[in-house]
Amino acid sequence: MKILVTGGTGYIGSHTCVELLNKGFEVVVFDNLYNSKIEVVDKIESITGKKIAFYKADMLDKESMRPVFEDHTFDAVIHFAGLKAVGESVEKPLLYYQNNITGTLNLCELMSEYGCKRIIFSSSATVYGEPEEIPVTENCPKGACSNPYGWTKSMLEQILSDIQNSDHEWSVVLLRYFNPIGAHESGLLGESPNGIPNNLMPYIMQVAVGKLPELGVFGDDYDTPDGTGVRDYIHVVDLAKGHVNAVEKVTSTNEVNVYNLGTGNGYSVLDIVKAFEKANDLTIPYSIKPRRAGDLASYYANPKKAKEELGWEAQYDLERMCQDSWRFAKKNLS
Ligand code: NAD
Ligand code: UD1
Repeated sequence: MKILVTGGTGYIGSHTCVELLNKGFEVVVFDNLYNSKIEVVDKIESITGKKIAFYKADMLDKESMRPVFEDHTFDAVIHFAGLKAVGESVEKPLLYYQNNITGTLNLCELMSEYGCKRIIFSSSATVYGEPEEIPVTENCPKGACSNPYGWTKSMLEQILSDIQNSDHEWSVVLLRYFNPIGAHESGLLGESPNGIPNNLMPYIMQVAVGKLPELGVFGDDYDTPDGTGVRDYIHVVDLAKGHVNAVEKVTSTNEVNVYNLGTGNGYSVLDIVKAFEKANDLTIPYSIKPRRAGDLASYYANPKKAKEELGWEAQYDLERMCQDSWRFAKKNLS
């Protein structure tokens, strides 16, 4: 089977390419390299010993994507390409709505034109807003997002569902990720955001390599066991494997299916700090800061549906997530 991976040189996309290649899929990638580097292609190939076809293309320039579809016939598309910085999306909503929504519309038009109507979409747990129940099941209604980035995910879920509803040749799998962290065990692939990171693990890594003096813990008065925010951190390799299982689903049904990809375990900010210190034998200085606007106390998945219907379950524990994150940081961030 041949799979198109959009945004395949990015953090989650690159790990997914590795898992697809390891399972014998043919992989074609396009990316505009806005938030990733071409070297990632060599790294994927050196990890797997297999080749991928790479195209530099921008979703906002529909014709730049056309050669990808002219040259290949795809069994499915895994659609990662998009902008993802929550804070930036508040400052530049037009950029986010244009890139993520117009870009995806262009992609879907080409998919339709070339007769590939199966898409696995990178959504986010953020679409639940303030969820009605914790752990969050897929039955929880979607809610109000606190930023334009989140709204692009929520709107694209709706758009893809409407496309499938109008044409039952389409098959859509919406994957709602919880908090991906970790890196490939080789230390070759991982996440290295530009500038000062917003997310917890990238920030801890900058402190660990000595680029930032200390972690600010956003609030210690939440209604959680230690007062700090609780999240469902999932190893990026587990997340990548979830996509491989989703390929079977998207190629065997003509429906819209929605899955949470999380572990079902909630860990607090201080749990993560302590686990990172223990796994890697170092100290992360931190101080307590005010709560961050828009943050919820506790947010973790009920991953039962993905287990039952995709046969997928996260395997890696927190210690492994911390070890792999640090191996990548040492090699790439210092
Ligand atoms: P990433 O930034 O590492 O990867 C996204 C890739 O898309 C980048 O390589 C970027 O260059 C490319 N891209 C962006 N706009 C493009 C365009 N117009 N044309 C072509 N390529 C373009 O991000 P990631 O962490 O790997 O996330 C992948 C997807 O998963 C994104 O859609 C993101 O919103 C979603 N997601 C991520 C998280 C997370 O915590 N990382 C959580 C939930 C959902
Ligand atoms: C954030 C986004 C979410 C997005 C996800 C993945 C917000 C409100 N939510 O989720 O939309 O899908 O990233 O990109 O931005 N923390 C600190 N100090 C830090 C950083 C984080 O204490 O320097 C805490 C946070 O308060 C939170 C936890 O760590 O309790 C995790 O934060 P983060 O990694 O940013 O993820 P989310 O807030 O869950």
